[in-house]
Amino acid sequence: MTRRGPALLIATLLLTACSSETSALSPQGPGADIIARLFWLFFAVALGVWLLVCSGMIFALLRRRPAEAHPLLPGEDAEARPRIVIYGLTVVTGLILMALATLSFFAGRSLAGLGGEDPMEIEITGQQWWWKVRYPDANPSRTLTTANDIHVPAGRPIRLVLQSRDVIHSFWIPEITGKRDLIPGQVNTLDFIVSAPGEYRGQCAEFCGFQHAHMRLVLIADTPADFARWYARQMETPPPPITQEAAAGQQVFLTKGCVMCHRVAGTPAQAQLGPDLTHVASRKGIAANTLPMTRGALAAWIADPQGVKPGTNMPRVDLSADELNRVVAYLEQLK
Ligand code: CUA
Repeated sequence: MTRRGPALLIATLLLTACSSETSALSPQGPGADIIARLFWLFFAVALGVWLLVCSGMIFALLRRRPAEAHPLLPGEDAEARPRIVIYGLTVVTGLILMALATLSFFAGRSLAGLGGEDPMEIEITGQQWWWKVRYPDANPSRTLTTANDIHVPAGRPIRLVLQSRDVIHSFWIPEITGKRDLIPGQVNTLDFIVSAPGEYRGQCAEFCGFQHAHMRLVLIADTPADFARWYARQMETPPPPITQEAAAGQQVFLTKGCVMCHRVAGTPAQAQLGPDLTHVASRKGIAANTLPMTRGALAAWIADPQGVKPGTNMPRVDLSADELNRVVAYLEQLK
């Protein structure tokens, strides 16, 4: 490291902490708000204690004591005073800790109560390395499955039902709520409300293998009307491809490896191993938001998944350049 290294490192850390896009300290919902307020309170108390300890130490170092006649035989008074101070401070420390624990308990209770009486349930299944998103409905034909983008209506209590298909993951959208683990064989829930329409970035927060850092998600809070419109659109079965290229692409999709892992409603592709691609082109990104949703990125991802995301379960399928262009043209129109 050069001499400017440490300064650069500190500056980078400070600036990173200021970025607001995924900061837990710029809350956009009551859940994150409770957590942020608790954080600032703990921070203020800890800062106060630290300042008191530092000033006490400086005071003790600077204070001049009169020389004792017999330093090894202190009088009774010399031991009584420190004892009072030590007992006093122990009691104060205990009281502070108890107060913080109580506040923490009530914050946890408020967080648990955010779901209210009738939250909207969404099932999230973590897997290496993407998020399966399922909107269950009492009517099975109204159940919707998608991936990595989570649409919710703003203002409505949401309950995520969290599971994992392989290892432990952790769901975290810092601006909206705290973390919750997705554990194989266990169902966890996480309740939250998003205050205003917008897009909020999320990230897997538990190391879950090689591509843990590329396990991103986007929470899109819509107005209730926009959400209903989005849902209705996602429920539609895509019409047959219009252009010749896309129609040829559909044949590539159905005859090469793609059909083994993916589903596209209204076609023979009905596998559940990989993300549902029925409306893939309506999403923000691909490969769990590793790449943006563009023609070039789609082609790069299909041509060389291991190059984009080493270790991913998506295998490379042998396609000629023409076949690749066609399959991309097909996927691109699945809006
Ligand atoms: Cu999933 Cu880290």
